[in-house]
Amino acid sequence: WTAPALALSIGYLCGSIPFGAILMRLVGGGDLRAIGSGNIGATNVLRSGRKGLAAATLLLDLAKGWCAVWFASRLLPGQGDVAAAAAVLGHCYPVWLRFSGGKGVATTMGVVLALHVPSGLIYAASWLALLAALRVSSLAGMLAALSAPVSFASFGRSDTLVLVFVALLVLWRHRSNIARLIAGTEPRIGGALRSTG
Ligand code: G3P
Repeated sequence: WTAPALALSIGYLCGSIPFGAILMRLVGGGDLRAIGSGNIGATNVLRSGRKGLAAATLLLDLAKGWCAVWFASRLLPGQGDVAAAAAVLGHCYPVWLRFSGGKGVATTMGVVLALHVPSGLIYAASWLALLAALRVSSLAGMLAALSAPVSFASFGRSDTLVLVFVALLVLWRHRSNIARLIAGTEPRIGGALRSTG
């Protein structure tokens, strides 16, 4: 159990770094959780009008997922999938923010890229294409997250179930977005939120 526990710890610690909230504080933007959807991800940083900061948040949230899997795989061969799940869990439930974190779209992209580059590229391409076509960040993110277990299964990978767990976690974290999508009130990128959550 030592290797999985270590991989879990590495993944969780990397994933739990709340880059969006940290960057907003650093630039004097205040508490990211008090604006827009209250989420700590790049989409909500963008709502503050800071495009560069939103891009940095996206890249850092992606990078922490990638690094978690990369480090864990090298230190503990065969434990990359454990670190992947733990990194997304860490992003969604960071101890530093009293377990109230993000929704996992960018961090999942990072772990998928680290586990299996072709699936990661499919994830990134679907996310970008859906974002451009739909202009609704949550919907693009959820559909991209669902592409991961489908890609893993298509490539016959043994860690497909881990990606099923991660995709379900991403969907669970988007409960408020799903409710707004059903109600027709989910804003497009750049639009304002009519209700928080
Ligand atoms: O990656 C987060 C995105 O899918 C939704 O963010 O702030 O619109 O709830 P938000």
